[in-house]
Amino acid sequence: MSANLWYKNAVIYCLDVESFMDLDGDGVGDFAGLADRLDHLERLGVNCIWLNPFYPSPNRDNGYDITDYYGVDPRYGTLGDFVEFMHAAADRGMRVIIDLVVNHTSVDHPWFQSARQSEDSPFRDWYVWSKEKPANITEGVVFPGVQEAIWTHDRKAGAWYLHRFYKHQPDLNVANPQVRVEILKIMGFWLALGVSGFRIDAVPFLIEDMGLPNGGTQDPFSLLTEMKEFLSWRRAGAVLLAEANIEYELAEDYFDGGDRMNMIFDFPLNQTLFLSLARRTASPLRQTLMHRPGSAGMGQWASFLRNHDELDLARLTKAERGEIFTAFAPDPGMQLYNRGIRRRLAPMLGNDQDLIRMAQSLMFALPGTPVMWYGEEIGMGEDLSLSEREAVRTPMQWNDQRNGGFSAAERDAVFRQVPADGPNGHRHINVAEQISNPDSLLHAVASMIAARRSAPEIGWGEFEVVDLGTDDVLALSYRWRGGHVVTLHNFTDKAVTFPIEIDGIERFVPLLSDAHNREPFSGGTKITLPRFGYCWLRCGAERR
Ligand code: GLC
Repeated sequence: MSANLWYKNAVIYCLDVESFMDLDGDGVGDFAGLADRLDHLERLGVNCIWLNPFYPSPNRDNGYDITDYYGVDPRYGTLGDFVEFMHAAADRGMRVIIDLVVNHTSVDHPWFQSARQSEDSPFRDWYVWSKEKPANITEGVVFPGVQEAIWTHDRKAGAWYLHRFYKHQPDLNVANPQVRVEILKIMGFWLALGVSGFRIDAVPFLIEDMGLPNGGTQDPFSLLTEMKEFLSWRRAGAVLLAEANIEYELAEDYFDGGDRMNMIFDFPLNQTLFLSLARRTASPLRQTLMHRPGSAGMGQWASFLRNHDELDLARLTKAERGEIFTAFAPDPGMQLYNRGIRRRLAPMLGNDQDLIRMAQSLMFALPGTPVMWYGEEIGMGEDLSLSEREAVRTPMQWNDQRNGGFSAAERDAVFRQVPADGPNGHRHINVAEQISNPDSLLHAVASMIAARRSAPEIGWGEFEVVDLGTDDVLALSYRWRGGHVVTLHNFTDKAVTFPIEIDGIERFVPLLSDAHNREPFSGGTKITLPRFGYCWLRCGAERR
């Protein structure tokens, strides 16, 4: 496999400009603040930043409701500030990918405002309308309990419009060639400003042509091929990362060997990972990895622990979901949409440092590209007093001062309060304290990223699940160009001892480990992993 596929060995860090760093002191994060804090990301070792939407928006869905695809919301700065940030990121060798949210616009977008005025509007057909009330309008809502329907009647339009998400997010009609041209134009605009690709929002909904009179006449995946072709012509090496919570059987339709999506978030794996953590056995995760389809050619899975949304467990059975709720979100207020958990990793895992570190190490060791959510590197917590998914989007905790160092504004002027007290509040959990503490989670995560960056076998090589004869430990083996790396993770809260024997391997050199197992040892030796211990080994000699 070619070594120039940068994204297969990248470490991606997702953040929202709004909540990262407020430099001008108005209580809202901004591009200038983000540019100012790139040293944190450089120290951590990430080499690609994924920005949540920063476009002009009424902000009813964290910016996923856009009113102008060609601008920066004035709350975060100007287009000039964006370019300055891009320059600063490039200076530090970091790529930037951005959210492309074209399944829907905001109802406030001028296109929709025009479309609803009259059937003669040039934008009428940019959306999906029905004169009659569609059947089963409550079926298929994405946010059960909050969203009532997927079709809403608009009085001015005299028709119903489709919205797979909230009713303030009307779906664009991608069967309309003008809409397709516009999508490419949006991509071209941001590519010209230097982005290295897009995280495409809600891909399965984007490509469905539900409710259209000519629905089903074109191959829904053709849009993805068009987007990829355009992307490659405009910028070599740019990538598409799909938010597609799909069954594995459908994966190749989305990848098409990388001719469509380069990467897809591995939602099924994410769910079995948490089942494994809840059950304290590697078994569910091992099973999923063994049955997961490969990602041929340019395709790659993206691994994650938590993101800006709820931890979605909808693919598990009710009983399995129940086990995870009991372990990690026992209070109904921690659960969301009858399927997920609106918590961050550290409090979910009971702030158990061993378990948190094992889970983090595991994410970097999984076959795929790791995608982190800001604040997880220091163990931030959630604010359950906030609504829905806002709980996991509190501002970054930089220090123990006012507003956690996020903003110099008065406390009440900050757009969302920075949790101060409790085990995950900024007085206790913050970047400044963890920088000065060599035993901190921040240092541990930085060394995991360094290990991942020095083990290209993981991103570029072939993987195998090694049978150790126990499900207490997950052992993954990676080979690439003569190099060979094995990673071990103990899912139990007890020390586990087992011999490590791999054909032809005489010597193991630890590449990363918890406080134990730091010395090289020979094949056949018994190794002990402490409770929730982890250890990455380079097999044989140094990498050639
Ligand atoms: C995606 C985003 C989510 C957003 C939704 C609608 O699922 O991850 O945050 O609410 O799309 O745009």
